[in-house]
Amino acid sequence: MYSNEELQSGLSTQIFGKKIFIFDSIDSTNAYAKTLASTSAEEGTIVIAEYQTTGHGRLGRTWRAESGSNILFSIIIRPTIEINKVGLLPFFAAVGVALAVETITGTCCECKWPNDVLLNGKKCCGILLESSFQHNVLDYAVIGIGVNVNQKVFDEDLKDRATSLIQEYGKKFDRKSVLHHILTSLELLYSEVKVGSFETILKEWNARTTMFGKQVTLTQAGEQIHGRAISLSMDGGLVLATPAGQRVCYAGDVTFALEE
Ligand code: BTN
Repeated sequence: MYSNEELQSGLSTQIFGKKIFIFDSIDSTNAYAKTLASTSAEEGTIVIAEYQTTGHGRLGRTWRAESGSNILFSIIIRPTIEINKVGLLPFFAAVGVALAVETITGTCCECKWPNDVLLNGKKCCGILLESSFQHNVLDYAVIGIGVNVNQKVFDEDLKDRATSLIQEYGKKFDRKSVLHHILTSLELLYSEVKVGSFETILKEWNARTTMFGKQVTLTQAGEQIHGRAISLSMDGGLVLATPAGQRVCYAGDVTFALEE
């Protein structure tokens, strides 16, 4: 397990990671970060763990990650953005991770709606945004990021969809260096987020997605919506052209229909 000094040495960011809470094992870094944020922890504070007993995933799922092999962390941010832009924050995180992984590996990542980062078609990073509002104003957002780094084996039900840096490149990666790259690229992008601008982020995200123009199925809470993926809406929804007309969806899992 890393110490605070170790993690901070060589980190050149000004905001992200200035304060780091490190755990060997925790229930969920997001849960802890939310508690810290609600007791006025500073923006940029990070909670990182070697293992999570109940890591939270999207749609009430559990995020499973082997102990000591991956990067599991949450960042607290407090941008003064309009409420309809809060749903764009996961895109900020996804682009930040994608840029960092690309710098480290030299290969392009794919961004999959809503929050995934893929390498060679498989998920290497999941992102979970949890936010809190006071009188319709964002008080804080916790962005939880799980990156599969040195995990070689995934559970049977995940192995066709999940990957890690070690699986893709056949060598171990220095997790501290990967974390530093992620924090650095996030902080660079954050200067725009802070002033409510998501233009660069959405441009970078759109450049990394393959779904537009394709026939997809969106599954959410047992409901399936079939349609052609058109674009992202201004607030991060997925615009689908369905036989019943245009629909904007905000949650769910997207799968590609077999090519026509
Ligand atoms: C998903 O793809 O379903 C989102 C997964 C998010 C996982 C990360 S790991 C660190 C942080 N703490 C959590 O409990 N979840 C996020």
